[in-house]
Amino acid sequence: MRICVIGSGYVGLVTAAVFSDLGNEVECVDIDGAKVEKLNAGKMPIYEPGLEEIVARNVKQNRLSFSTEVDAAVTRSEIIFICVGTPAMENGQTDLSYVTAAAKTIAGSLNGYKIVVNKSTVPVGTGDLVRRVITEAHGNSGRDFDVVSNPEFLREGQAIADALKPDRIIVGAPSKKVAMKLLELYATLGAPIIITDVQSAELIKYASNAFLAMKISFINQVADICEEAGANIIDVSKALGLDKRIGGMFLNAGLGYGGSCFPKDVLSLIHSSGELGIDFGLLKEVVNVNNNRIDRFVGKIHNRFPEMKDRVIGILGLAFKPETDDMRDAKSIAIINSLVSVGAKIKAYDPVAMDSARSILPDITYCQSPYETAEGADAIVIVTEWRAFQQLDLEKIRGLMKTPVIFDGRNMYNPERKRSFGFEYYSVGRP
Ligand code: UDX
Repeated sequence: MRICVIGSGYVGLVTAAVFSDLGNEVECVDIDGAKVEKLNAGKMPIYEPGLEEIVARNVKQNRLSFSTEVDAAVTRSEIIFICVGTPAMENGQTDLSYVTAAAKTIAGSLNGYKIVVNKSTVPVGTGDLVRRVITEAHGNSGRDFDVVSNPEFLREGQAIADALKPDRIIVGAPSKKVAMKLLELYATLGAPIIITDVQSAELIKYASNAFLAMKISFINQVADICEEAGANIIDVSKALGLDKRIGGMFLNAGLGYGGSCFPKDVLSLIHSSGELGIDFGLLKEVVNVNNNRIDRFVGKIHNRFPEMKDRVIGILGLAFKPETDDMRDAKSIAIINSLVSVGAKIKAYDPVAMDSARSILPDITYCQSPYETAEGADAIVIVTEWRAFQQLDLEKIRGLMKTPVIFDGRNMYNPERKRSFGFEYYSVGRP
């Protein structure tokens, strides 16, 4: 099939790469010329394991190309995926300006029947909006199209695997006939496919992310209870998760959810529910609990070091989670800013996110390894649970630090083991 993917961000790039790998001819277009140039030089604008290889393979076999010529690519395609950014506005509402701009461009290039697919995460009702924008822009010219919602559930760091082996594929289409066309595209993946109306598909995406965010806030609040009651959150969440009705995933207590999706999607669902007259109070509390995480965690550092001025704090991990260089809503930013505001000196290391971090956190010292970060530090703070931090040489770290204190925001380590190496060890929800 001939496919056009509008947008070469996370979702667009992974979608384009995977569809081309499944044998389709894919043109991935973006208005950002510099990004397209980079992609044409074989360089990825983001760090995502496996992406570079799959892109290179399909470009070489002429199934995947990148350009800024959106109109031409739309003209040549049967299916057009809108994969542009949908940032949050101040009030939590989703900014749909990139989606409507893409819809207008599509309208200007309609030269026959096309299926327009919303893959960007958009509030319920956006399918209708896209249909209206295209209809208004090309007038009553008889050129025909349908709008489908086909949300993605890709996790950064595992996006290729998630795209090739999804838990489910959601196709929200105006008719069976249109849905069947999308099904053709996904048939080889062998994943369960749910066909719905457009609105339900849009809502499924938000409900999924909001539910996962709720699990995280729930377990973090239970972790607070553990801290006060002397219980252990690791045992509590393991036992909770063994109940099949609850499920064990997304029950890791820590610093709260961050990243490019959960924070904005939860706010967006609260906002669009409000517009529909539904007060989603439960989700508002999910946000409140999440917003409290950093203060509570930094509070532990202040309790141990009441005077912060000129304390050297080593931060291990800057990205919002492992296996990505994405700094959007990364907990490192809030923690570092809070410590810097009371006079601490920050040294930091991340295996891949230091380049993206530099512009956001320009005034800290970037180190080449965890050991350099530990040198002369009053304390180390684990912010991102990179696997490489699991196997650190603890004797060496202790020898390098000024005081052997670890604040582990991700419960990466076994407290007994850390203490047996002479560390003072603080984590989340554990005695
Ligand atoms: C998420 C969804 O999982 C994905 O389906 C959607 O399409 C995009 O948003 P992503 O943002 O890549 O993916 O990250 P995810 O792995 O879901 O983690 C989100 C946040 O929750 C991270 O900040 C992570 O550290 C945190 N988290 C996750 C926890 O604090 N505890 C957990 O148990 C799981």
